[in-house]
Amino acid sequence: MSAALSLDAIRNQAAGLNFRNQAFIGGRYVGAADGRTFDCISPVDGRVLTKIARCGKEDVDRAVKAARVAFDDGRWSGLAPAQRKRTMLRFAERIEANATELALLETLDMGKPIGDSTRIDVPATVNVIRWYAEAIDKVYDEVAPTAGNVVAMIRREPMGVVAAIVPWNFPMIMAAWKIGPALATGNSLIVKPAEQSSLTAIRLAELALEAGIPEGVFQVVPGFGPEAGEALGRHMDVDGIAFTGSGEVGKLLLRMSGESNMKRVALECGGKTPHIVLADTHDLDAAATAAAWGIFFNQGEVCNAGSRLLVERSIKDQLLEKVIEVGRSMKFGDPLDPATQMGAIVDQDQLEKVLSYIGLGSEEGAKLLLGGQRARADSGGFYIEPTIFDGVENRMRIAQEEIFGPVLSVLTFDDLEEAVKIGNDTIYGLAAAIWTRDINKAMTAAKKLRAGSVWVNCFDGGDITTPFGGYKQSGFGRDKSLHALDKYSELKTIWIELH
Ligand code: NAI
Ligand code: MG
Repeated sequence: MSAALSLDAIRNQAAGLNFRNQAFIGGRYVGAADGRTFDCISPVDGRVLTKIARCGKEDVDRAVKAARVAFDDGRWSGLAPAQRKRTMLRFAERIEANATELALLETLDMGKPIGDSTRIDVPATVNVIRWYAEAIDKVYDEVAPTAGNVVAMIRREPMGVVAAIVPWNFPMIMAAWKIGPALATGNSLIVKPAEQSSLTAIRLAELALEAGIPEGVFQVVPGFGPEAGEALGRHMDVDGIAFTGSGEVGKLLLRMSGESNMKRVALECGGKTPHIVLADTHDLDAAATAAAWGIFFNQGEVCNAGSRLLVERSIKDQLLEKVIEVGRSMKFGDPLDPATQMGAIVDQDQLEKVLSYIGLGSEEGAKLLLGGQRARADSGGFYIEPTIFDGVENRMRIAQEEIFGPVLSVLTFDDLEEAVKIGNDTIYGLAAAIWTRDINKAMTAAKKLRAGSVWVNCFDGGDITTPFGGYKQSGFGRDKSLHALDKYSELKTIWIELH
């Protein structure tokens, strides 16, 4: 695996890559109908890696038609779940067999450390596909408790043609959270990767075909949100959209659904996770490490990043000192270096957005304790130092708005009630965490925090067995676990009277 290699060896591997850069429609790679492309820029060094097909309405139409034909003739939707399972297991194997290449593509395309791509993104993707494959022939439909002259079946049926519009922070994992349950339940799926990170999705399409997923069932239309994305959102023959990204686009998709065919929409739209540390915490070092990694992992480009650290006043200085120490010691640098723990910001736009929030934090009166600068500019890539603001008040914009970068806001509270109040005082409700040795306080907070996931004495815990998604403006619908099957299914009642 790449992580064991030297930086030079990894650079050599990267130089030898052959980038697939077209749409995948009807079982083959094709350019955009109008021949347009866009530059695929690596945030590692600002270099153009390749030019990618810039799909628009016509390409989306072709993909939807192929998906519909495949869905209607039952080549996938009509298979026994055990047959879909076997094919999806082969798909997982194909991904695993190409792990090194996929990890490199992910890192070059969006700037995360190669160690993360290798140890987290690729294995998680394989695991998700495998888990839904293994699950789907063990899920039963229902028979209702009716009178004796009636048989009422409640059947889960695939929705039809489903589109997944995915973001750039975990391009493969976010796609896999949708690919797994959507394909397992028998849908035809069209993936629209983020324009910042199309390479792995494009490559996955070919691996799916090699595994035996029939043509038209798994397709990829790369391109821009307002073009390929909107064409899917407004399409009259797309039955459902699963989206992860900004709240702004989530709301647009709801509107597009209302203005078109009332397609089902499921949204995961980010957060402003409160990471609460009480003075009675059993292990302040562990809490400090979790607080630092909770915001600096993946350069802070994480929907559930612990971007607000809420500390009980009496231990603030002590904890903060440790958090700063962990932040300082993180290996920050070239994403291709296997030792790197924090890499590049995805693109110039995101770099500027994060820097402008850092400027805003100082203007709003918060105190910059660590970082705050662009770094490694001579590389041509986009890097920001791990950044910590103390003295943040929850009304400040840096405490309220999703920055999606390595910027931690530190706030203080005096008791649990105040911590929960501040924790909930945001439009978001994706996740929350609390450190305490008191089970009563932990459970009280866990119940009162309006968030889809609450972590106690840890941060970002969970695996594929547990659902993930948000309250409030973090969206609705859940990824992961068997609950995700609901997003890609319709329930049908068949009521039979016996005479
Ligand atoms: P975005 O919401 O614009 O992009 C996410 C996906 O939606 C991409 O595939 C994009 O092409 C697509 N999209 C964009 N406009 C669309 C439209 N009009 N119709 C249909 N699809 C559309 O997010 P962006 O601009 O990349 O990042 C902006 C901010 O959004 C970030 O700074 C961060 O705060 C948040 N974000 C949250 C994510 C999460 O995991 N919840 C992931 C990515 C971004
Ligand atoms: Mg956008």
